[in-house]
Amino acid sequence: MMKPISIIIDCDPGIDDTIALLTAFVSPELDIRGITPVCGNQPLEKTVRNALQVCELGGRTDIPVYAGCFKPMIREPIYGQFHGKSGLGNTMLPEPVKKPEAQSAVDFLIAELSKAAEKQEPITLCCIGPMTNFAVALRIKPEIAAGVERIIMMGGAYRESGNRTMTAEFNMLADPHAAHIVFSSNIPIVALALDATHQVMLKPEHVDEFARVSGRISTTISELMMFWDRNDVRRYGSRGGPLHDPLVIVYLLAPHLFESEPARIFVEHESELCMGQTIADWYGKSNLEPNAQIVSKVNSQAVIELMLERLSRYAGNKGTL
Ligand code: RIB
Ligand code: CA
Repeated sequence: MMKPISIIIDCDPGIDDTIALLTAFVSPELDIRGITPVCGNQPLEKTVRNALQVCELGGRTDIPVYAGCFKPMIREPIYGQFHGKSGLGNTMLPEPVKKPEAQSAVDFLIAELSKAAEKQEPITLCCIGPMTNFAVALRIKPEIAAGVERIIMMGGAYRESGNRTMTAEFNMLADPHAAHIVFSSNIPIVALALDATHQVMLKPEHVDEFARVSGRISTTISELMMFWDRNDVRRYGSRGGPLHDPLVIVYLLAPHLFESEPARIFVEHESELCMGQTIADWYGKSNLEPNAQIVSKVNSQAVIELMLERLSRYAGNKGTL
């Protein structure tokens, strides 16, 4: 097997974050160096608690969790609308025994990425929430950029409308200033925006399949996935919920399932009307080099099949459990 890809998962659990984490936990191709929850779908105390609970659910209490920023860089928090009061829908997980590390997410990112830069073994950053933690770390020590192989991010909307406002996707709107700092860093980005994630709808029939194969996490997975159903055929073209965050993990496991186009990406962080809107310079109008590959096409059936195979590992079929 190839050398595992070293990753850090920056997240705001969050139902789809949870599915992404559970998929990553049983994927030996990934060496998860740390999980860094941030204020996003829920206030920080809940995203940290949810991350700890999901590590216990997934049997991965070996992975350190570092609490991140409790607010966006400048704007007030806006929180998510589709994750329920706890951030995990109706699912009640046991009070976590696992504790977050004493080190903050920002200090962890600085230390880990500095080490990665020194050793010339850069780490892949999986950003599936507002990008506050990494932006603050970059502001404190910009040189950590050399320790990042690339950023695989869920966020933005380029040829799609927004999902929180007419123009903005949630992660970008929640902290547009952080996104601006990250987009200006020249670190290579793979952008899984709504353009990609809306192609992969988790439909009711999929939920039944996931419940059937996922063994000891079956109840939790079906609860989470049922809660995730938007039931908005007009907006999404079908029942179900868009599989946003898990696509970041699937991209790492099977990049051949995705097609992308190069662009320079920007985010509106000043105008109120279009705050958080992401803009793609596809044709070099900005005279800046592309900094992103924007995923434009997804083999959605194959993504679902891969997710089913991975989550079936919680039934003891194979994998690292
Ligand atoms: O717009 C979708 C994104 O916002 C996902 O990351 C979801 O978890 C929320 O954070
Ligand atoms: Ca998220």
